[in-house]
Amino acid sequence: MSVLLAPSLLASNFLQLGKEIEMVNESQADLFHVDVMDGHFVPNLTFGFFIIKQIKSMAKKPLDVHLMISNPDQYLEAYKEAGADWLSVHYETCPHLHSSIQRIKKLGMKAGVVINPHNPVSLLRDIIPEADYVLLMSVNPGFGGQKFIESTYRRLHELNELKEKMNPSLLIEVDGGVDATNAGKLASAGANILVAGSAVFGAKDSTASITEIKKQAGS
Ligand code: DX5
Ligand code: ZN
Repeated sequence: MSVLLAPSLLASNFLQLGKEIEMVNESQADLFHVDVMDGHFVPNLTFGFFIIKQIKSMAKKPLDVHLMISNPDQYLEAYKEAGADWLSVHYETCPHLHSSIQRIKKLGMKAGVVINPHNPVSLLRDIIPEADYVLLMSVNPGFGGQKFIESTYRRLHELNELKEKMNPSLLIEVDGGVDATNAGKLASAGANILVAGSAVFGAKDSTASITEIKKQAGS
């Protein structure tokens, strides 16, 4: 499978959001990455349902919604209604993760589990057979434009070992500090989906940057 690219709208120009969505629609990108932050689980705030609905109304590619919020269980239906196609919850926020993942799938979305850089990948062992994807944070969640954490490669390796044993069809997404310089190495290490915010929207030519990251990732 070729590596998918999900530009993170967090780094886009919100005064030009329509144009930014149009650019992604016409580009080689595969998904829209939508970072939801609540000022509680992470020290930053971003979009509510109202904006996600508007993004959905223009998007020609699926919405990959990354929830960085406390108590996401309370809102799973609401995110489906707002337009999420893929929905990921942080391991750290779900006391009944197995049940949360089942509910997300039942609602008709792809279900993902996210893990912070400090948490061992082995924690995911028993949820891997249930999940459609795992999102490995390669920065601390909360902000765009941070430096990629190098231990991600080792973590990818460990996650791939678990994937082979427990659920070979699991997809692995990497989020944070991804750009054209590390996309190839991440793809070789087993990443299936790359999220890129500032590398796409901070570039002079965002479309060209998407093409370049995809090319470096070998897709
Ligand atoms: C961080 C978010 C990321 C972020 C990535 O909390 O989950 O999706 O937007 O941004 P860059 O690519 O700039 O690191
Ligand atoms: Zn994200």
